Amino acid sequence: HNIVILISGTGSNMAAIVQAAERERWHEQPGARVAAVISNRADAQGLAFARERGIATAVLEHGGFATREAFDAELAALIDRHAPALVVLAGFMRILSAGFVARYAGRLLNIHPSLLPAFTGLHTHQRAIDAGCRFAGCTVHQVTAELDVGPIVEQAVVPILAGDDAATLAARVLSQEHLVYPRAIVRVLSKQ
Ligand code: GRF
Repeated sequence: HNIVILISGTGSNMAAIVQAAERERWHEQPGARVAAVISNRADAQGLAFARERGIATAVLEHGGFATREAFDAELAALIDRHAPALVVLAGFMRILSAGFVARYAGRLLNIHPSLLPAFTGLHTHQRAIDAGCRFAGCTVHQVTAELDVGPIVEQAVVPILAGDDAATLAARVLSQEHLVYPRAIVRVLSKQ
């Protein structure tokens, strides 16, 4: 099973997945490997991490495309070079067209920093704090045409502590993301 990971920035989730794959020997069980890391930004720090590990990387910047569909078509062409069993969005900050989502239906995952269905969209941590929530967390879900909605694969919950601000909560959630995403991927690939 080839996994292609899409990033836009730090790529800490991508790094956690790569390290889990090495540590847990995914190439043996479930017979999976991270085949490529693709970013829509040339300055994504995660690209250096992937390159250091000999993982194929590519950059596709949306500036050169007239429409979302044209960008997505080129992105799909890059992805399909690796014949992926799974496409993993990890801090990938672009809205994907319905055509792209349909192409990878059932093998397209995303991680969102809230306990979906609560707090779809952006600024999830500040919104949870402002709402007086006692808990926050992250969700790995199958990607559908509707943003941040789709069958939930895995979740993790963290407490919101007195004195938390968006940054301290984000850090607590992010550490859980790094545990939850690899687990979700193994589960999905073991079912395929
Ligand atoms: C994280 O908050 C994650 O929840 C969201 O993108 C942010 C950055 O992720 N999907 P990463 O460090 O680039 O993996």
